[in-house]
Amino acid sequence: MAEIAEHVRRNRAHWDQLAPQFVATGERAWARSEPSWGIWSVPERDVRMFPDNLAGADTIELGCGTAYVSSWLARRGARVVGIDNSEQQLATARRLQRQHGLNFPLIHGNAESVPYPDGCFDFAISEYGACLWADPYKWVPEAARLLRPGGRLHFLVNAFLLTLCVPAEDDSAAGDRLLRPAFGVYRVEWPTDDSVEFHLSHSNWIRLLRRSGFEIEDLVELRPELDATTRYPYVTLEWARNWPSEEIWKARRR
Ligand SMILES: C[S@@+](CC[C@H](N)C(=O)[O-])C[C@H]1O[C@@H](n2cnc3c(N)ncnc32)[C@H](O)[C@@H]1O
Repeated sequence: MAEIAEHVRRNRAHWDQLAPQFVATGERAWARSEPSWGIWSVPERDVRMFPDNLAGADTIELGCGTAYVSSWLARRGARVVGIDNSEQQLATARRLQRQHGLNFPLIHGNAESVPYPDGCFDFAISEYGACLWADPYKWVPEAARLLRPGGRLHFLVNAFLLTLCVPAEDDSAAGDRLLRPAFGVYRVEWPTDDSVEFHLSHSNWIRLLRRSGFEIEDLVELRPELDATTRYPYVTLEWARNWPSEEIWKARRR
């Protein structure tokens, strides 16, 4: 059996442990038919995370967690595959599949190395999934391999500016000061837990996406609505109304 990379092993343990805290969010999101995105639940109409006309499209969610995004794809008539590194997260996803009568493949695995042939998907999506927790220099080329020419990759991550402003030591919220250098940001380990995240500057995302065979179609900086709320302590509504706290990258396979 292939050896599991250190960050994948650590993130698997992290997410297996965190999974119970994501059950209620997963249940609520599965119950909604209208998608909304990120920590502020920004409505789909404002950001167009899904391409038009998904009926019959082959789609994959990279780091699907409880798979509510996959459920929204399936309800739009797409053929869906979800892959996730955490068996515990997938256990919730499987229970919700049964509850909602929706059935699609859920694979326990690493989005850096997906057990599907080249060019068999039209759309790949990730919302705080592999796009945050997997090595971008591995999962982006892997997404390019999986997509057909013209296929799309859309992913949502913390905005780079927020990553520079979030205090590392505790759960306090980002302020209006840059707390770390922008150059060299890549693998990020917060002292508060044992997980490993990956963050890139905009220029490094652009270079990586283009080098991997993508054209960039859009970069959407999310602005929450005036009455939006979040369960996450690391950013306030006031901050997120002033500066981008989340961003969506949209790219198309050449
Ligand atoms: C925050 S959840 C994303 C799901 C959902 N969209 C959400 O926001 O709750 C992050 C998920 O990424 C998964 N993940 C982390 N590293 C991964 C990897 N290398 N390959 C596949 N999934 C991974 C975790 O197991 C976890 O379920």
